[in-house]
Amino acid sequence: MDRWDMSRMPAFSDPSQQNPSEQSPLRLGVMASGNGSNFEALAQAIEAGTLRAELRLLVVNNPGCGAQQRAERLGVPCKVLDHRVLRNREDLDQALVDSFRAADVEVVVMAGWMRIVTPVLIEGFAGRLVNIHPSLLPSFKGLDGIGQALKAGVKVTGCTVHVVTEELDAGPILAQAAVDVDRDDDHDSLARKIHREEHQLLPAAINAMIPTWRDQASL
Ligand code: GAR
Repeated sequence: MDRWDMSRMPAFSDPSQQNPSEQSPLRLGVMASGNGSNFEALAQAIEAGTLRAELRLLVVNNPGCGAQQRAERLGVPCKVLDHRVLRNREDLDQALVDSFRAADVEVVVMAGWMRIVTPVLIEGFAGRLVNIHPSLLPSFKGLDGIGQALKAGVKVTGCTVHVVTEELDAGPILAQAAVDVDRDDDHDSLARKIHREEHQLLPAAINAMIPTWRDQASL
């Protein structure tokens, strides 16, 4: 089974044809609500040289969450925007836009962000806001994609990296990875298998999109 659909991804252009700004690392912002393993996978891919990017800022909405602890360990700047102390979703999203702009971020990744986002954020980073979701979209949108897949009894599920648009989990798909659901899989075991794929898929999908984002920026 093909693990990644790279057919929609542009190939890297010849580095010798690029001007210096095109060769600079992509300035990434990341949003996370929980454990943060996908955030750390991005950091590891950067360290390994397979993702040509730098982590400018992590924003978390749950103070003290795993993602924040990982950022502190990895030395990545981290900001807490606690949704409980903000008036509404729009205020949270405006604070996100302001924070990422202040950090000179080009592309924002929702790596386990468990809040619905509004046009304030989606339009603030139009075409440059990316989400990872634990199912093969368009199946099992919304909450608990893993539990939905188990309940449906599918034999194959997976994960999807997509651009965020206003319709929930429905924006253009950048990459997907498939995971077999075995007869004895439960939520924990399936989540572990999906996470393993996500940690490869997300950095690869971001890296493959860099030339496209850079081309758009230079228009
Ligand atoms: C990931 O599995 C991601 O696909 C999912 O949250 C998990 C975060 O894990 N995202 C969603 O469900 C978004 N609807 P992590 O905190 O270990 O990266």
